[in-house]
Amino acid sequence: MKKLLMIAGGALGIYIVIVMLIAVIPAIDLSMTPAGPEVKPLTALQAEGRDVFVAEGCSYCHTQQVRPIPQDKVFGRPSAPGDFAYQTPELLGSERTGPDLTNVGASKPSDVWQYIHLFDPRAVVPESIMPNFKFLFRVVDQLPPGETAVPVPAAFAPATGKVIPTQQAKALVAYLLSLKQTPIPGYTMNGGMGGATTAAPAATTAAAPSAPVPAGAYRFDAATGASLYAANCSACHQAGGEGIPGAFPPLKGNAAVDDADPTLHIDTVLEGAHGVTIGGVAYTSVMPPFSGQLSDTQIADIINHERSSWGNQAKSVTPAEVAAARAKAH
Ligand code: HEC
Ligand code: HEC
Repeated sequence: MKKLLMIAGGALGIYIVIVMLIAVIPAIDLSMTPAGPEVKPLTALQAEGRDVFVAEGCSYCHTQQVRPIPQDKVFGRPSAPGDFAYQTPELLGSERTGPDLTNVGASKPSDVWQYIHLFDPRAVVPESIMPNFKFLFRVVDQLPPGETAVPVPAAFAPATGKVIPTQQAKALVAYLLSLKQTPIPGYTMNGGMGGATTAAPAATTAAAPSAPVPAGAYRFDAATGASLYAANCSACHQAGGEGIPGAFPPLKGNAAVDDADPTLHIDTVLEGAHGVTIGGVAYTSVMPPFSGQLSDTQIADIINHERSSWGNQAKSVTPAEVAAARAKAH
């Protein structure tokens, strides 16, 4: 009996020591990590949205950790401990059926996009395999005062009625939009990625703003332009440049895109836009800036793709023109 107690007690003791060493002490240590620069606590609404994120199992398909390896560069700079100061327990995730969401508030800053995508991912990303979350929305005949209908494209909208987000959907989207990496000056990690010298919102292509392209050396490559457009722009403006009525303006026949003077076109891509009236329609949705993650050549390729597709026939631009606009903006 005594021997048995000694064995059991010994095993329990070893167990407690191991748990302290590999779980409890590291957890206490991590919880004392100071917040990174500009990292803010979640608001009440965002915290409520985080609970919806957990309850709906979003983490089964989405990580929130950018690793210091080249494959992860598309998602942003490597995650740092201070990023998670107000996000404990962390929702790091381990499975990436869908993209990492660490910086999705910067790459998809439009609440309208997030609502349409949650209502039916295929309405904005035709090839998506993400399940829909229609049960986070209500369909009503009459808009309640103060509510705005989600502009779900007709092919995906209910036959009658208007789609409005529930409180859960509003909280979830507030949380998604809060997921933005903050710049850490001079931050580098091993793995050869270098540090984030700019705010580098993650979009979908790896790009360090490149060395200036000598005048005359640039040739527009249509295939590159098309694939860069697909990776960075088509989620909102759609593959055929038709946009989504009431949410994202068409680039097909768009005055800025089809204008011989490319100034507005270039500036919009570099700096993003919000609250501009286009073709008589006032868009409430946000267009993200791309100056942080696309090089002058990549922006020229995308712009030239837009200027030569869907019936648009405007004069093409050079990386030098993009570089000049970039310099002017700073
Ligand atoms: C079964 C796996 C799966 C689940 C569960 C899932 N997603 Fe996704 N998600 C995807 C896939 C695949 C994509 C990429 C295609 C697309 O954009 O729809 C994606 C894309 C996204 C994007 C766009 C990211 C980007 O950078 O373009 C967001 C935002 C998102 N999901 C949020 C959520 C939220 C919020 C939940 C939970 C309510 C969720 N997802 C649940 C698979 C999933
Ligand atoms: C998250 C959604 C989203 C993404 C991604 C996006 N845009 Fe936009 N874009 C918008 C919205 C919304 C507007 C309208 C903004 C406004 O009215 O203030 C817009 C407007 C534009 C305009 C019209 C400007 C004008 O004044 O007529 C151009 C050109 C444009 N975007 C190009 C691009 C390009 C190129 C990309 C990819 C590099 C891109 N957009 C990615 C949402 C997006």
